[in-house]
Amino acid sequence: MSGSDASALRTRRLRALRGCHTVLSGIRPTSVAEQLDAMRAGAPDDLLPDFYGEGGAVEALERRVADLLGTETAVFFPTGTMAQQVALRYGAELTGRTGVGLHPLGHPRQHERDAYAVLGGLRAVLTTRDPRNPTAEEVAALDEPVGSLMLELPLREAGFVLPTWDELVDVVRAARDIGARVHIDGARLWESTVHLGRPLAEVAALADSVYVSFYKSLDGISGAALAGDAALARYARAWRHRFGGMVFQQWPAALAALHGLDHELPRLAGYVAHARTVAEVLAGLPGARVFPAPPHTHQFRLWLPYPADLLNDANLALAEQEQVWFAGQWRDGEVPGLAMTEVTVAGPALALDAERIVDLAARFLRRVTAA
Ligand SMILES: Cc1ncc(COP(=O)(O)O)c(C=O)c1O
Repeated sequence: MSGSDASALRTRRLRALRGCHTVLSGIRPTSVAEQLDAMRAGAPDDLLPDFYGEGGAVEALERRVADLLGTETAVFFPTGTMAQQVALRYGAELTGRTGVGLHPLGHPRQHERDAYAVLGGLRAVLTTRDPRNPTAEEVAALDEPVGSLMLELPLREAGFVLPTWDELVDVVRAARDIGARVHIDGARLWESTVHLGRPLAEVAALADSVYVSFYKSLDGISGAALAGDAALARYARAWRHRFGGMVFQQWPAALAALHGLDHELPRLAGYVAHARTVAEVLAGLPGARVFPAPPHTHQFRLWLPYPADLLNDANLALAEQEQVWFAGQWRDGEVPGLAMTEVTVAGPALALDAERIVDLAARFLRRVTAA
């Protein structure tokens, strides 16, 4: 498919999803006008724009995040990709070690074109090849020194999986024992507190640095924060500049992030709870598999025994013709005829009890089997 065909299909899917009255996985996309209205509502008349990362909504957001995570500081970044490179190179400079404990399924290895290596001169020391976060034993047994151990909580490409709280404490201790700093990739840390059974600040207190994202579960526009102590913040601001992240004004992203903290953060625990019901119902569909079961957050993986194209087409047809959205973004895996999607249980799914999910799934599967 050409780039413009893919873009046209993406727009068609977004429009179809926006027109749905019932949505199982994901959220209805808001229009730019709606986003502007939400921002306007969160901006007092006398709020001035930020200036190269200082003042205004950016500063308010940094304070808010530091309070939530219980850290001395938090520094706004345009992307998490940039924020984490800074955190990892800080660990390397402080320890004199260029090795970084990474999971092969972690974001830096999967989705950043190896920026940590190409730009940061760092080397990945793989913690484990198993699709889960590393154990304390694996970290203790690493065969090369690492300046930082990076823990992605939850590990998205393994199915949004989390360790237990005790496992997390143990792995952090193991990292300290080998002289490594601990960095948390907390793109989705907001919703991880439910499974970990600890508030954000207690989780963050385990680490030397924590990155959080504003546009995933919080529905912001973009942006990230790197939280930690004041020395980290000074380093982060210097390297943010060097990496080209000193953006003149970032109040739209900051206001959207503050809106997310006000409106979405308090709802996440409810999504996580409801995800258990949704996953249980979906696991009962013919030939379906769900992982993890029960889900650790409000997101999990679902497999169905059909090719991805068939499932995507059926979902789009259901959305366009009946204004009902089951789940999109199916992709084929290693087993032919078995496709996987990531299910996200958010606001719209709260309106659906088990009975309605069964009905919705039946309508979707009728279209799949008829095709
Ligand atoms: C786990 C994880 N880490 C880091 C990132 C990077 O965030 P950004 O897109 O802001 O660079 C993402 C983004 O999808 C992510 O899912």
